[in-house]
Amino acid sequence: MYILGIETSCDDTAAAVLDGEGTVQANIISSQDTLHQRFGGIVPELASRRHMELITVNVDRALRRAHLDFADIDLISVTQGPGLIGSLLVGFSYAKALSFTRKIPFVGVDHMAGHLLSAFLEKDQPAFPYVALIVSGGTSALFKVTGFTDFALIGSTRDDAAGEAFDKIARYLQLGYPGGPVVSRHAERGNPAAVSLPRAWLAEHAHDFSFSGLKTAVLNHCNRLRQTGELDDAKKNDICASFQQAVVDVLVRKTVAAALAHEIDTIVLGGGVSANRELRGQMSEACHGKGLSLHLPVLENCTDNAAMIAFAGLKKFETGAEGMYDDDVFSRSPLGR
Ligand code: KG4
Repeated sequence: MYILGIETSCDDTAAAVLDGEGTVQANIISSQDTLHQRFGGIVPELASRRHMELITVNVDRALRRAHLDFADIDLISVTQGPGLIGSLLVGFSYAKALSFTRKIPFVGVDHMAGHLLSAFLEKDQPAFPYVALIVSGGTSALFKVTGFTDFALIGSTRDDAAGEAFDKIARYLQLGYPGGPVVSRHAERGNPAAVSLPRAWLAEHAHDFSFSGLKTAVLNHCNRLRQTGELDDAKKNDICASFQQAVVDVLVRKTVAAALAHEIDTIVLGGGVSANRELRGQMSEACHGKGLSLHLPVLENCTDNAAMIAFAGLKKFETGAEGMYDDDVFSRSPLGR
């Protein structure tokens, strides 16, 4: 059995081929970073248009890389939401048309389910149940995962997602786009204890996150330095390092606490922010200290990709689910933020 995965929820045009055992045969991703760079963020209209240009090209590339033809594909798995509606519609409409003309069944997949299961693309696979921290540009959430289609939201962000906060700080400091990687590069040259920044623990809602207070504190600090002409490169590096440490402190402490509170001994990370080196290192140390097992997908499986969508679709299809031609895309996940 072969599954064709298609992902166009945001600004990456991705296509992948998986075999029935869940082994990746091809994984193609075209990033649009350079297209959106000069705007400091994603322009939805441009993103959809670029998906239109790349979707057939990338599906063909994935099939060629896997040495397969459309006739070999048994299932099409495509992201149905959440994401930018115009972007989602490109992949979803393409998948439906392919399904109709080639008589291949299709399933629509929640992008979040892809991230929650991305650890299964690795050799060392987690056992159920596990706690998953999903941190990306639109999500900061903790889930209890008890099966391939059983996900319970146990904590989510009250305001900004972690990746969104990285992107906004980068824009404010005029460091470039996307914010996460560029802030973490500057952070490597800075002192994480240089600036005293708040951490929102939200004691009564222990598993929820909030990053807007931290973001405002950083912006106020930058404004003060700008007014006195002190915002030089060294100060920017210190701000990046202190901001990153504040985010990492909260993500690590809350994820470990959630696992302990639910008596679960396995933690999985997913989403673009889980590519952050400090988060990976400090989460590993914390898990080691508490005797928890940690599964960190390789970087290409952390960020948006179609292999995780193919895997999540396969597991959904195995439950008997199948897409209908009048199914529509959705901008917000029913699984939660
Ligand atoms: O999962 P993803 O590729 O796309 C979605 O948002 O769905 O995540 C992208 C987010 C962006 O906000 C980006 O700035 C952040 O992940 N990111 C990082 C790093 N790499 C990507 N944040 C912190 N450190 C990184 N190394």
